Amino acid sequence: MKNTVVVGAQFGDEGKAKITDLLAQNADFITRFQGGSNAGHTVVANGKKYAFHLVPSGILYENKICMIGAGCVIKVDDLKNEIDGIIKQGISKEHFEKCLKISPLAHITMKYHTDIDGYSENSLGKDKIGTTKKGIGPTYTDKYNRCGIRVEDLFNKETLSKKLDTILPKKNKELEFVYNLKTYTKDEILAECDEYRKILAPYVDFNWQENLLNYKNNKSILFEGAQGVMLDVDYGTYPYVTSSSPTAGGAGIGASMGPLTIQRAIGVFKAYMTRVGEGAFITELNDETGEKLRQIGGEFGVTTGRARRCGWFDAISAKYAVLVGGLNEVALTKLDVLDSFDEIKVAVAYKNKLTGETTTQYPTNVYTHYDWEPIYETHKGWKTSVSNCKNYDELPQNAKKYLKRLEELLGIKISIISVGPDREQTIFI
Ligand code: GDP
Ligand code: IMO
Ligand code: MG
Repeated sequence: MKNTVVVGAQFGDEGKAKITDLLAQNADFITRFQGGSNAGHTVVANGKKYAFHLVPSGILYENKICMIGAGCVIKVDDLKNEIDGIIKQGISKEHFEKCLKISPLAHITMKYHTDIDGYSENSLGKDKIGTTKKGIGPTYTDKYNRCGIRVEDLFNKETLSKKLDTILPKKNKELEFVYNLKTYTKDEILAECDEYRKILAPYVDFNWQENLLNYKNNKSILFEGAQGVMLDVDYGTYPYVTSSSPTAGGAGIGASMGPLTIQRAIGVFKAYMTRVGEGAFITELNDETGEKLRQIGGEFGVTTGRARRCGWFDAISAKYAVLVGGLNEVALTKLDVLDSFDEIKVAVAYKNKLTGETTTQYPTNVYTHYDWEPIYETHKGWKTSVSNCKNYDELPQNAKKYLKRLEELLGIKISIISVGPDREQTIFI
């Protein structure tokens, strides 16, 4: 298999994990390159449903190495719970110890990061971002502010102690005076780090340079993205975004192998659209149709349980995601969710409610989004189940027309169509 990156191309929850799990069959090495346990990834395999947050979605296979890359942030207690949960579902501890690897360069989400995330969200009131409260923003802030704690720091007590002498007094001032939050003693932080070291020890790959070079030269690699392009810190609906780069470009950085390793960039799109958290969503449907999409699509978050906001497919944001996300193929998921709809709409332009102006460019200033309304094109529904279709020819005519039109609007090929959550409910073109 060509080295492939799987990227969410909307606001997350597009069904990336299903696609990653499927493609992982033909990969030797699967690596997450950004994000943390803010992600909620569902894989349905052999009738069992698994929820992953930070563990790469290739972990269900024997003999594949799954790595949490340098670009990720790790909330260690969450990772432990996640691994324990998967072990309870029948994947052995030995399998994890053999197959799961963690980059020593990944950053640790400390308790103070989650404290700050929670406080910031509460203090913003109606202007909140709607984060998952997993400490993502504060962990990446410290990383870029060069005062983060990395996995490797946990394994060198001497340098960790020195590092804390610089970091902690400043952090405590921030906690106390900016946020009015509990401060931490050095002993408390050292004890926290000690606990994290014990949990992570079986997985940390200190030989990563040699191993990655071997994978790069001899193996097939699958890069797994979390979140989605419209939540990207540079290109998403800033500031209603996450704090990392879920684009194909992000994979080049976060997986420690550079952009030239990647030959294929698959953007995963739902056949409609959803969003959790705040921030404008131009094709959002606050009506019965939105509710119908939510109920049929089971649109409730895997990480926070929040109801996902639902709307029609937005070809303007999709085309933008293809451009800035660096995508060259489409995996379209949840086509089956549209089975019972008489009509299916796609936004093909936006109209400014104040000026009457129309555009097919994505307006990047999110504060203007409430001024734009979608101009829809309406497609006839197919009114029959596609869940058992095994190949493209078996799809109903109206579904094919819908897919062709999406391809035309996006300018890249749909190579995978998902018609249900199971591995088997997938059409490869
Ligand atoms: P991710 O975060 O992008 O991996 O997606 P999530 O796991 O958060 O959400 C996608 C949901 O849709 C999960 O419950 C999947 O099992 C489910 N799913 C994936 N593909 C399909 C599909 O083609 N049809 C249906 N009905 N459900 C799907
Ligand atoms: P997967 O990988 C959907 C959203 C949050 C919030 C914003 C910032 O399952 O697609 P954060 O906690 O990252 O600081 O929150 O990003 N968000 C997601 N939405 N799917 C996700 O991951 C998300 N991860 C973060 O709801 O709006
Ligand atoms: Mg998800």
